[in-house]
Amino acid sequence: MALLTELPAHAALAGHFEAARDRPMRDLFAADPGRFGKFSLRLGDILFDYSKNRVTEETMGLLFDLARQAKVEARRDAMFSGAKINRTEDRAVLHVALRNRSNRPILVDGRDVMPEVNRVLAQMRDFCGRIHSGAWTGYSGKKITDVVNIGIGGSDLGPQMATLALAHYAVPGITPHFVSNVDGTHLAETFKRVSPETTLFVIASKTFTTLETMANAHTARDWFLAAAGDEAAVAKHFVALSTNAGEVAKFGIDTANMFAFWDWVGGRYSLWSAIGLSIALAVGFDHFEALLEGGHVADEHFRTAPLEQNIPIIMGLLGIWYNNFFGAQTQAILPYDQYLTRFAAYFQQGDMESNGKSVATDGRFVPYSTGPVIWGEPGTNGQHAFYQLIHQGTKLIPCDFLAAVRSQNPLGRHQDMLLSNFFAQTEALMKGKTVEEARAELAGQGLAEDRLELLARAKSFSGNRPTNSFLYERLDPKTLGTLIALYEHKIFTQGTIWDINSYDQMGVELGKVLAGTILKELEDGTPVTSHDCSTNGLINYYKELRK
Ligand code: F6P
Repeated sequence: MALLTELPAHAALAGHFEAARDRPMRDLFAADPGRFGKFSLRLGDILFDYSKNRVTEETMGLLFDLARQAKVEARRDAMFSGAKINRTEDRAVLHVALRNRSNRPILVDGRDVMPEVNRVLAQMRDFCGRIHSGAWTGYSGKKITDVVNIGIGGSDLGPQMATLALAHYAVPGITPHFVSNVDGTHLAETFKRVSPETTLFVIASKTFTTLETMANAHTARDWFLAAAGDEAAVAKHFVALSTNAGEVAKFGIDTANMFAFWDWVGGRYSLWSAIGLSIALAVGFDHFEALLEGGHVADEHFRTAPLEQNIPIIMGLLGIWYNNFFGAQTQAILPYDQYLTRFAAYFQQGDMESNGKSVATDGRFVPYSTGPVIWGEPGTNGQHAFYQLIHQGTKLIPCDFLAAVRSQNPLGRHQDMLLSNFFAQTEALMKGKTVEEARAELAGQGLAEDRLELLARAKSFSGNRPTNSFLYERLDPKTLGTLIALYEHKIFTQGTIWDINSYDQMGVELGKVLAGTILKELEDGTPVTSHDCSTNGLINYYKELRK
């Protein structure tokens, strides 16, 4: 495949950038009252407004050329067909099969994966039914009241984000907990809130070898056995979500209590798989299924909509425009929706573990910037924390704003107050305020000339700061599913244009291997000399103080 910089559209965009870079968005809006209509799209009740971006029809045309030349459509079709587009791991990339509600066959190595997908979904439905009805009890005959998901990365962030996002749909009588950190505090604090008799531990790990998860799972098992006193009770309190039946059995979980998934599900794309069991236990299986349906809506849109009307492709192209031409380093995700508290954190892994790469699909090192730093917090909290920098700092930070029209919790004027902030922020970021406008506002206050000048500058905003806006009717499971999948396909689009493999994660391996070596060194009392002097110094200080 060609590198981004080898595509003719890249050169065309570079030329266009020189002419377009300083054009104020406020002028573009003034010149074209139809701009919102031209640069916004609908998918069901989700409105995607991208008119507050530093683009014209010419820019978008060139970006669509880029997508075509990078063969985004062909690679997308390859992904949906089950081709092994994850070439370094020689795997298909088929999280879309997990939410393929049309049930059309999807083949991997000539075999339709849908019967297996449906079998596990049926197993999950049955299990949720038994937990919720109380038919499944703990070792002392009591109903399960607490579900502790033990996992990390994709086996934690997705279930946790979605469970929080759908808290409005929580099944009464079930309290979800998420333990990920190998820091014993995480588990210890959770133990304080649950009882062994009524707790179900869901051990979520694709590989079932991840150090943190296995350590937490073993400690949880010891804690449980100290109370239950009988190995046979483990079967009622521990289930596994994994691709690795051998390791699950070795841990001591009956494989009848294992919910399977497959190597073609990437860890950070796994909430749609058996890894979603914690979501289904927390909010009910019907709501989990609605989440899958929402994902499928986005898949069908991504698969069939022309480039010019394809929301995730446009999201991806806009990101490329800022990342590779304006030199933006980060992308903020700012939900004006308290339920989406972990949405940005979820896409930190989703995006950064996918596109934090520098090797092209043919092994060359890419000579350009790839995946951005993803960050964000819900509004309006962020406004009182880091928006100052977004408005008046020296960095260009493209932002996504997301909000529901209808609150799940309509309290007085809260929703209008929340949304007024959303609209005001995106408008202010686009328009800014010139020094002249600030000066005019200050005039008549009797300020000395030098003070007036200083204040006028301090109160000016350059504006021209790009935002995408997503507005949807309410954050129900289906809408959440659609939003997540739109972002997933954006990541795919960008990875394709950067010609990198978005579906491996070799970069996290080195730290894991080194930690294993150092753990052994921590276990004996002698000073360490095998590392650089900083690492030796830190390890030896730790050993000294630990004595
Ligand atoms: O951080 C690396 C990683 O492999 C992620 O991709 C994955 O989500 C996480 O570890 C957990 O892996 P597992 O589900 O196999 O325990």
